[in-house]
Amino acid sequence: MYDAGKIIVGIVVFVVLATSPLWFNALTEATPEAPKLTLPTNGSTECVEATGYMRASHMDLLNQWREQVVRTGQRDYVSSSSGKVFDMSLSRTCMDCHSNKADFCDACHTYMAVSPYCWDCHVEPKGAN
Ligand code: HEC
Ligand code: HEC
Ligand code: HEC
Repeated sequence: MYDAGKIIVGIVVFVVLATSPLWFNALTEATPEAPKLTLPTNGSTECVEATGYMRASHMDLLNQWREQVVRTGQRDYVSSSSGKVFDMSLSRTCMDCHSNKADFCDACHTYMAVSPYCWDCHVEPKGAN
């Protein structure tokens, strides 16, 4: 009544097709490489906060800065990692160090498919350095 041979062939074909995204990726190494980021060339070695925090939460920090400045006019930010004081400004502070926007902010955002609209209003640094 059952044709064991055909059933087995059917199962094999199904398994191969169902898992094809996995082995196709492995065979073609389709996973894109993480972008190389150009770090500041102004001699600074640390960011406003710890690197891991910045990597994961810089957007939250920027929101916090924007709200502080716009709502209270207060512009001094004291780093919780170094105790240094920074002017809460996207253009004057972040972009002063990260002046190579294309090979830093943009490189990562393009890779992650994010496009912040901040530059509609805020001044972008001119050219790379
Ligand atoms: C005083 C210079 C300076 C300022 C100001 C500065 N950064 Fe940084 N930032 C750095 C340096 C240097 C690193 C790399 C630190 C490291 O490699 O450990 C870095 C790292 C980062 C990273 C992590 C990159 C990675 O390796 O994944 C992000 C994201 C970032 N900064 C965003 C910002 C934003 C947003 C601001 C403004 C709120 C800002 N930075 C202000 C110097 C600065
Ligand atoms: C290591 C990768 C990386 C680097 C470098 C990086 N970003 Fe981001 N950024 C991200 C990711 C990922 C998101 C999206 C996070 C999310 O959607 O929750 C993001 C989101 C943002 C947002 C919020 C956008 C939105 O529409 O909500 C802003 C603003 C931003 N980044 C600014 C910057 C600036 C300015 C720099 C350069 C100084 C920078 N980022 C560098 C990875 C990075
Ligand atoms: C429609 C125009 C507009 C857009 C878009 C915009 N901003 Fe702003 N932003 C302003 C204005 C106006 C101020 C107030 C400037 C001041 O008081 O110095 C401001 C202030 C800020 C400040 C504090 C002051 C400073 O010098 O940076 C931060 C931080 C900031 N914005 C971050 C962002 C981020 C991050 C984005 C994108 C996610 C963004 N803004 C998008 C108009 C805009």
